[in-house]
Amino acid sequence: MKMKAGCNQLKPAVLVLIVKLCFCASYQPKDLQVCELCSGAVLNGSAVGQFCSSSAGRIEGRCCLRRDNTSDPERITGLDLSNCSLTHVEGLLGTSRAIMMIDLSLNPIVNISDAAFQGLIELDFIILPEHVHCPGGNTSWAKVEVKGGNRLCEGQINWCNQTGQLSINCPENSLCAPYGPSFFECSCVDDFHGYKCLRRGEFPGLLVFGPLGAVTVAASLLLWVTQRRKVKPL
Ligand SMILES: *[C@@H]1O[C@H](CO)[C@@H](O)[C@H](O)[C@H]1NC(C)=O
Ligand SMILES: *[C@@H]1O[C@H](CO)[C@@H](O)[C@H](O)[C@H]1NC(C)=O
Ligand SMILES: *[C@@H]1O[C@H](CO)[C@@H](O)[C@H](O)[C@H]1NC(C)=O
Ligand SMILES: *[C@@H]1O[C@H](CO)[C@@H](O)[C@H](O)[C@H]1NC(C)=O
Ligand SMILES: *[C@@H]1O[C@H](CO)[C@@H](O)[C@H](O)[C@H]1NC(C)=O
Ligand SMILES: *[C@@H]1O[C@H](CO)[C@@H](O)[C@H](O)[C@H]1NC(C)=O
Repeated sequence: MKMKAGCNQLKPAVLVLIVKLCFCASYQPKDLQVCELCSGAVLNGSAVGQFCSSSAGRIEGRCCLRRDNTSDPERITGLDLSNCSLTHVEGLLGTSRAIMMIDLSLNPIVNISDAAFQGLIELDFIILPEHVHCPGGNTSWAKVEVKGGNRLCEGQINWCNQTGQLSINCPENSLCAPYGPSFFECSCVDDFHGYKCLRRGEFPGLLVFGPLGAVTVAASLLLWVTQRRKVKPL
């Protein structure tokens, strides 16, 4: 994760949040920097505050943190970046894949690319300034409404539902899995790999990249065996 300016530097300054997409990102936040990105803390009465208390989370700065399991590390489940002079938001995957709610209201955001929310499979509620569209558009959400100057995107649509009209066909030998609003991924099954999962047999990447360490191998594996696509607007 990389940040260009902090809230407490240069008061009226435009804040730019750039979170680098990290393919080797684990399911836990490496650091909780994003929680301190904006001044103040999650307010009790706010959407993220209510979500946090109802889900037995702990508030730290602008984050709601929760531990599923005593052996697991805490993960960010809610992020309240409301009223924080944000103009750009990119690649939130580096923050936490466990994130369920994001509040970006009251920010001078012009536009957010759909890719910013890529990989956030648990994300089920986003609050945006009214003029910013829900990632993936209305068809990627169960409910979209405009309320009190905000746009609310609720209930992420799972594009992998094979019985529904909007089902997605992954290539043979692969399985469809959600990959954030309007995204899905096709992962090769069993010992298939390569482009369109057409190759079978032992995965050669392990032999080639083995000595370079687990992180490199994990990143190569992910790039080799999965294909990610975006659902086209209807
Ligand atoms: C928010 O809730 C917590 C726990 O219920 C309480 O300790 C705290 O005083 C509250 N803060 C405000 C500003 O109401
Ligand atoms: C803790 O997490 C592990 C792995 O996610 C799971 O197998 C285990 O059942 C969990 N334990 C509890 C008590 O939830
Ligand atoms: C937004 O933040 C500013 C300065 O931090 C504060 O004065 C203002 O009351 C906040 N607005 C809302 C709606 O919380
Ligand atoms: C918003 O982003 C989309 C896609 O990235 C682009 O086509 C569009 O022109 C942008 N709109 C504005 C107002 O920047
Ligand atoms: C998406 O839904 C909102 C709220 O219902 C509506 O105002 C808007 O016109 C819709 N946009 C499109 C492109 O259908
Ligand atoms: C799949 O889509 C159908 C039709 O839209 C719906 O009735 C069904 O509940 C969906 N199944 C799941 C698992 O989401």
